[in-house]
Amino acid sequence: MVWPLPQRSKRQPAPEHDAPAAAPRLNLTQRLRRNRKADWTRRLVRENTLTTDDLIWPIFLCEGENAREPVASMPSVERLSIDEAVRAAAEAAKLGIPALALFPFTEPSLRNEQASEALNPNNLVCRACRAIKREVPNLGLVTDVALDPYTSHGHDGILRGARILNDETVFVLVEQALNQARAGADIIAPSDMMDGRVGAIRAGLDAENFEDVQILSYAAKYASAFYGPFRDAVGTNATLIGDKRTYQMDPANSDEALREVAQDVEEGADIVMVKPGLPYLDIIFRVKERFGMPTFAYQVSGEYAMIMAAAERGWIDGDKAMLESLTAFKRAGADAILTYLAPRAAKRLTEMA
Ligand code: PBG
Repeated sequence: MVWPLPQRSKRQPAPEHDAPAAAPRLNLTQRLRRNRKADWTRRLVRENTLTTDDLIWPIFLCEGENAREPVASMPSVERLSIDEAVRAAAEAAKLGIPALALFPFTEPSLRNEQASEALNPNNLVCRACRAIKREVPNLGLVTDVALDPYTSHGHDGILRGARILNDETVFVLVEQALNQARAGADIIAPSDMMDGRVGAIRAGLDAENFEDVQILSYAAKYASAFYGPFRDAVGTNATLIGDKRTYQMDPANSDEALREVAQDVEEGADIVMVKPGLPYLDIIFRVKERFGMPTFAYQVSGEYAMIMAAAERGWIDGDKAMLESLTAFKRAGADAILTYLAPRAAKRLTEMA
């Protein structure tokens, strides 16, 4: 309903020069600002709340001891040797962060065409899983299933010529998932976007009595420019030939995301994920509405880099931008968020409580 404009008496000056008290009252039934007038009422009417329970912290692993290697394109993010990763895990548990996601920087000499290091029971991720489970048993561990940190060409699958082979790749992914489950991973997270991998991994896990291991499917993962800093962190920018557009989704599509999610749900995914995050809030919203599944979002490396870079220059308030962006995920319907900001956000949320 549109209310008629109040009549201004001729003796009143133009609005720019009005003394506030002289302004005529608008005849409004609803004044939405009433509920915003003070912090206590804003808290009462708040629709979505971000808590530390909503956060998963992705960390990068490297070989060595007491090693922390900075990632240039991700300010304050470092690759951690396993002993440092265990310390990070203890910190996460202390902060109340429910789970970590592990990503390895594989030594270049161990990368090859078949990604055989992905199947090594003593690879970096498996050793880290065992070490963290030993020291911090109640922290959830998410491991990434995809071959890109292990292939010499930086693709997530097995390559023939310029083609990424689907079914041959899925065969290897099942073995990779089992390798991680045997090392103690709680959640297997296929991020490769091959067709049929969720069903194949579920069958593989069940056949080895890992029926309690969850599958977090990167169900709608887009071929995105926002993964650039991550590829620095795991060393695939240097190796990647071409792009990932034959398996990751076209950023122009959204109906297709629902088909991807539908398939993964049917194949046995426990949780579905949309990635990247903030540029794809519409996808998160549609996925949550349509399926009502536990739906996670990944605030990816490029999103992190943008916030951090602008904050470093003093162009935005980093803490505020962090909490606002994470709350936006909740508003869109995400249940949890993978974010490199997890420890920072957890600390802020504790200070604010
Ligand atoms: C690889 C993988 C990627 C990310 C998570 N797993 C990169 C890619 O697909 O090239 C990106 C995460 C980020 O950018 O933070 N399967």
